[in-house]
Amino acid sequence: IEVDEFDLVVFGASGDLAHRKLLPALYHRYDDGQVPDGSRIFCSARRSYSDAEYRAWAREAIEEHVKNHETHKLDAFLEKIHYIAIDLASGEGLADLKSALEERPHGIRAFYLAVGPDLFGPICEHLGSNSLVTPQTRIVLEKPIGKDGTSAKVLNDTVARVFDEHQIFRIDHYLGKETVQNLMALRFANALFEPLWNAAHIDHVQITVAEALGVGGRAGYYDTAGALRDMVQNHILQLLCLVAMEPPESMDADSVRDEKLKVLKALAPITEANAEKLTVRGQYTAGASAGGAVPGYLDELGNSDSATETFVALKAEIANWRWAGVPFYLRTGKRLAQRVSEIVVQFRPIPHSIFSQEAGSISANRLIIRLQPDEGVQMKIMIKDPGPGGMRLRQVPLDMSFAEAFKVRNPDAYERLIMDVIRGNQTLFMRRDEVDAAWAWIDPIQAAWAASRDKPRSYTAGTWGPSASIALVERDHRTWAEDGL
Ligand code: BG6
Repeated sequence: IEVDEFDLVVFGASGDLAHRKLLPALYHRYDDGQVPDGSRIFCSARRSYSDAEYRAWAREAIEEHVKNHETHKLDAFLEKIHYIAIDLASGEGLADLKSALEERPHGIRAFYLAVGPDLFGPICEHLGSNSLVTPQTRIVLEKPIGKDGTSAKVLNDTVARVFDEHQIFRIDHYLGKETVQNLMALRFANALFEPLWNAAHIDHVQITVAEALGVGGRAGYYDTAGALRDMVQNHILQLLCLVAMEPPESMDADSVRDEKLKVLKALAPITEANAEKLTVRGQYTAGASAGGAVPGYLDELGNSDSATETFVALKAEIANWRWAGVPFYLRTGKRLAQRVSEIVVQFRPIPHSIFSQEAGSISANRLIIRLQPDEGVQMKIMIKDPGPGGMRLRQVPLDMSFAEAFKVRNPDAYERLIMDVIRGNQTLFMRRDEVDAAWAWIDPIQAAWAASRDKPRSYTAGTWGPSASIALVERDHRTWAEDGL
């Protein structure tokens, strides 16, 4: 799809996100011809770099994260990058940015805030007072959008003083993942699933986002957040919304977001009264990961009495006609046995079997949407075992691995999302009311935990989390799906 020339300003451009994600993503888009000739990328942070020094840093980032880059293309891409040191406290450096941007007053302009939320306010104020916000301007906010509903409101109000909602792009990078978008294709571009997509045919849904890594260098931030705020409030609830929402009228941003919002509002509250039954918190202790010994969370943090959870499992319910009585089991954690993210839709068993006992047992159908690694979709169905030995039944996967089926590079989420910002398409970004509704469900859980005297249960690094998370599902005579893992 064609894009117009643009100016992109990245605040926080000397940070980890720029290094790992933004610069590589921009390079890929450039490589695919989606960064038109006159476009400019202004990278900004506090420290002083010359253009040449910053470009050397950017080169290293791209060389590290982009396989098969071509040197002449990389050289040409780096020419588009200009570095401007800005001290947000004193405002020093802003005049340089202003005069550069004013060379193109009517073009597409995007400000990417790859900085902590404490800087959202100062940046917006500077952009507003320097008249840098034109009708064609957009702002991109990285999470966390607050640590609860109240702080999210303060942040959103601050940004709203300078930007209209249609200019604000709140990133949830999970929405840019190929398989997540495929979930919409699967549901709404096939006639097969939608008639069955309800409580009459679906027994339950599982969403797992498991990470093998620990908190590493991010322990300072992470300890103020925990798994519920860091992963569930945003990524996992967004996945749940896409699984559970009604068919939107179109892919138009507000149609999709209206439907997601309805799901968030229909989530049955988890409060002090039921949190113990419906939630499990965990924190990892020393163990092994990828064949090596790894320290526990408290050691990484250097603080022995943190009650921050690095694992959470929840049983959520969506109180509406489509989903009443269908549990959505959600779990996420750091230092789990494997890095795997997937959505499992478990269908109900057949109502009656016509087969004899010798045929074996009949497992209910299961649809697995795998986000990472090796993205794909799998449908588990029953077939007859091949051969003359009579009617013996077996469950097999109808398997669609994207890597094998398409033999193309799977673009990183940020590639899609940055270009959507430039195009002005908000479908894959969180609207303010979605963020509020997500917090409105999360806050009481957090409050219930704070009120209980229990600490998170410990689990050994490299395992699947505390055994209580298994019990959470087994109590309902179900199990966490192992087959897709
Ligand atoms: C981020 C969280 O939003 O998502 C991190 O803050 C987490 O804690 C990351 O590691 C996971 O993203 P991905 O794309 O690697 O699954």
